[in-house]
Amino acid sequence: MLATTQDRIAAAVKRLGSENAFLVLARARALEKQGRKVVHLEIGEPDFDTPEAIKAAAAAAMRAGYTHYTPSAGSMDLREAIADYAGAFRGIPYAPRNVVVGPGAKPLIWNTLCALLDPGDEFVYFDPAYPAYASAASYLQANVTAIPLLESRNWRMDLDELERRVSDRTKLLVINSPHNPTGGVLQLDDLERIAELARQHDFLVLADEIYSRNFYLDRGFVSIASLPGMRERTIVVDGFSKAYAMTGWRLGYALMPEELANVVTLFNNNTFSCVTSFVQQAGIAALKGPDEPVRTMNALFRERRDRIVGGLNQIPGFSCALPEGAFYAFPNISKITRDDRALANFLLEEAGVACTWGSAFGAAGKGYLRFSYATSLEDIDVALDSIAKSLPKFTRSG
Ligand SMILES: Cc1ncc(COP(=O)(O)O)c(C=O)c1O
Repeated sequence: MLATTQDRIAAAVKRLGSENAFLVLARARALEKQGRKVVHLEIGEPDFDTPEAIKAAAAAAMRAGYTHYTPSAGSMDLREAIADYAGAFRGIPYAPRNVVVGPGAKPLIWNTLCALLDPGDEFVYFDPAYPAYASAASYLQANVTAIPLLESRNWRMDLDELERRVSDRTKLLVINSPHNPTGGVLQLDDLERIAELARQHDFLVLADEIYSRNFYLDRGFVSIASLPGMRERTIVVDGFSKAYAMTGWRLGYALMPEELANVVTLFNNNTFSCVTSFVQQAGIAALKGPDEPVRTMNALFRERRDRIVGGLNQIPGFSCALPEGAFYAFPNISKITRDDRALANFLLEEAGVACTWGSAFGAAGKGYLRFSYATSLEDIDVALDSIAKSLPKFTRSG
């Protein structure tokens, strides 16, 4: 008998995870096609348009002939601009040889994990989490350990638990601050203790700092890479999607020791070859141009954060910690139900509010929902009103 296509799929594919927010988006779009109104709070992308100067730079670059391949690590002028900007922002020196450019930060997470993890290697991250880390690590057959983040610590890691779970066998720890899905931010003493453990047990840290410009604390953002002895053992992941409202452009970067950068570049070479060349020129314009648009968007995110968190906390059964960064609210809904997925489905189907269920980000997310507030105040108000009005129906049916 002939094999079905399903039979032919590699068994390793079963180890891949995926981002459920994209599933919610697909269902929401299907409802919209039927004429239903949906407020989109599921996908983590700024609703703002990309600043005009960045778009103009891309158009000019395309006309000037930036339409061919570039080196797999990224064009030299963009790597120089990233090394200057990202180094100055974190207060540490970086050179272009430390920079790898990719079509978004996500493929660089994948390629960096490919460059580092052999089957059986000890890989530590946290729960709840952006799904890309565990998906890649599991695919590579690493030994994966998740440390819970604690709502009681405003979604920072349980560091005593981390200390118990790392050892000299640990190869790589991932941290993500500001954090998706909770908006939590690691404090300086958290970073110092993590750095101490990394030095003591000689492991590497992948610091996903994609939300470093979406930061609401008065103290400035601190990168773990800037702590003593950490630049050499940290891979910083960052990009343009969130800070510059450039999710669809697909442009991200990572900073790391040169020897590792060469291997991640080899993975770039083997997969996408290089990032679209005129998009790379737009990246230079973003980094060298005025910082004002980033600050303006951030001030608006902060206003929206206050509106949505204030509003959610008014809804009976919801309780939401104040996020200190990123653009997500992660309310506890366990007084209403433990079945966060059922409530998210109900809110989409009955209230026309698309959000992501907390357990989509790991077991520790069970009993929570994630709302992306990268949308207008008007939409946030409509969503809050609609949730409050429809919730009694869920409670009665449950
Ligand atoms: C924590 C985190 N890291 C990385 C990414 C990837 O961003 P991009 O690939 O658009 O640069 C995202 C996007 O949602 C994210 O939330």
